[in-house]
Amino acid sequence: MSKRSSGQKQDTRLAHAGREPTQQHGFVNTPIYRGSTVLFPTVKCLEESAQPFTYGRLGTPTVEALQDALAELEGGYRTLLTPSGLSAIATTLLALLSAGDHVLVSDSVYRPTRRFCDKVLKRLGIRTTYYDPLVGASIAQLIEDNTRVVFTESPGSQTFEVQDIPAIVAAAHARNVLVVLDNTWATPLFFKPFAHGADISIQAATKYIVGHADAMLGAITTSEATWAPIAEAHDEFGLCPGPDDTYLGLRGLRSLSARLERHQRSALQVAEWLGKRPEVARVIYPALPSDPGHALWKRDFTGASGLFAIVLKPVSKPALAAMLDGLSLFGMGYSWGGFESLILPFDPRTYRTATTWQAEGPALRLHVGLEDFGDLRADLEAGFGRLSAAS
Ligand SMILES: Cc1ncc(COP(=O)(O)O)c(C=O)c1O
Repeated sequence: MSKRSSGQKQDTRLAHAGREPTQQHGFVNTPIYRGSTVLFPTVKCLEESAQPFTYGRLGTPTVEALQDALAELEGGYRTLLTPSGLSAIATTLLALLSAGDHVLVSDSVYRPTRRFCDKVLKRLGIRTTYYDPLVGASIAQLIEDNTRVVFTESPGSQTFEVQDIPAIVAAAHARNVLVVLDNTWATPLFFKPFAHGADISIQAATKYIVGHADAMLGAITTSEATWAPIAEAHDEFGLCPGPDDTYLGLRGLRSLSARLERHQRSALQVAEWLGKRPEVARVIYPALPSDPGHALWKRDFTGASGLFAIVLKPVSKPALAAMLDGLSLFGMGYSWGGFESLILPFDPRTYRTATTWQAEGPALRLHVGLEDFGDLRADLEAGFGRLSAAS
């Protein structure tokens, strides 16, 4: 593992964490190591596994570099990479839960996380209860004798409810229940999971860590106490990220702070502009003072990324399609966190169970990319023009 430095600021660590040029012939970046077989010089070394790398699936210097950097930035004990964000979530839940256990999952969780609970965990005899993401300390009332994990995601997928993580952690830890956080929206730069008491933090590194929409990657960062079961499951499931994707994660990480600063600035500009549009009923973005989660966000987060939602006033489906189909800069597609702007209609009424989504009209999720704000505004403005014309 590479050295950590406690005295340096986060931006400095972003540039230097997980990097040892002296071990790479002076080259600045840890290169892409490809490989399965790793040779041992002697029988003794083989029998004792007495070298840092033993088999490709169990890690390479490229993988270790990104793991070390992420563990340091999240403020956790150690990190393990997986081939996707969803595999990080699935591995964590399977590592911590057994037949007969109960898990509490936020109703605002990423939808495939929910599907995993409803299908795989259910089949294994593990029961899931979905809770209102705004539950706070009242999570205590939902904890049962066999509850092992509270799964959180803050802000929540699509609807961006900010969860009171310290209050949930206090109630969970009082009953020896672990708290897992999907920290993808904030990244380790804008929310420090372990400083707020979480036991495990998950990143869909596919998003802002990679940052360029060109790779799939997940990361599980643990506390010291939760390291053993996660490491064991990760090993037993045979998970290993691809070498190129890992390298792209490392490369993306170096510019994460600079990119997020810009995503945040432009997202605020777009959100404020949208808030004044007559077609928009409300904007859901915790960084806006008008957002119901703003006070909690201000207390616990140090920034906001470029992903938020708007609710439109009632409008016909063809009018909405006319707006979205003609956009030239905002692309329609899944994922987010890349350099490019995205827009996606969504409707939580179709799958949420613990809360009721009430909206004036259709909802849209926007990812504000690194393009010029004026150009993005013009693209949306033209879209509203088409929407009005088709209404
Ligand atoms: C909040 C959140 N968590 C996890 C994931 C899953 O990540 P991946 O697509 O890398 O599996 C996503 C993907 O959109 C996400 O938005």
